[in-house]
Amino acid sequence: MKQNIILQYLNERSSSPLLTDPGPSKEELNSMVQAALRVPDHALLSPWRVIAVHGDQRKRLGELWSHYLAGTRAEAEKLTHKAMRAPLILICMACIQNHSKVPAQEQCITAGLATYSILMAANSLGYDGYWRTGQAAYDQGVQQALGLKANEEIVGYLYLGTSAYKKTRASTATVQEKLSFLKSM
Ligand SMILES: Cc1cc2nc3c(=O)[nH]c(=O)nc-3n(C[C@H](O)[C@H](O)[C@H](O)COP(=O)(O)O)c2cc1C
Repeated sequence: MKQNIILQYLNERSSSPLLTDPGPSKEELNSMVQAALRVPDHALLSPWRVIAVHGDQRKRLGELWSHYLAGTRAEAEKLTHKAMRAPLILICMACIQNHSKVPAQEQCITAGLATYSILMAANSLGYDGYWRTGQAAYDQGVQQALGLKANEEIVGYLYLGTSAYKKTRASTATVQEKLSFLKSM
């Protein structure tokens, strides 16, 4: 089979939990979001948007997480620190619309695809990333404080920057486990 650069990238990609400067510039961020505009999207609803957090605003985000999620001073410090794990954090969200043919699930999938497209575009520009969710994504207080509307939900925080190290995946499923063929009936 003919090899190509996209297939090689997809086979080798991995996430980087520890990210430092430099992160993507404003111009690079624009081009990453531009690329995500082309994801598969039923009825072209474009049901997603992104809030970028960089520089001092990361501290504000960490304080916001602490306010809603921390029970102790130690937890608050940990959350404040977490917001500084990368030079750029993208809060990627689904914006669910009422549509007769496109259920919410499909719109969330498109938002997830947009998030993955942004991550891949960042990789293509030489940056690394890590997709996270957890309470910071699902807590209603956090969501409201970030200005999410009632029809919006966070599909991921995308941490982007330059890799301090790349982790290796502990286990990978096999093609045999994932692929089967419909038998003739
Ligand atoms: C929707 C979604 C949410 C995720 N949330 C987390 C998370 O909160 N914490 C985490 O460590 N990894 C999370 N991950 C997984 C990592 O981003 C990463 O993909 C995983 O650790 C596998 O590593 P790899 O991308 O290098 O193969 C999430 C992935 C997806 C798609």
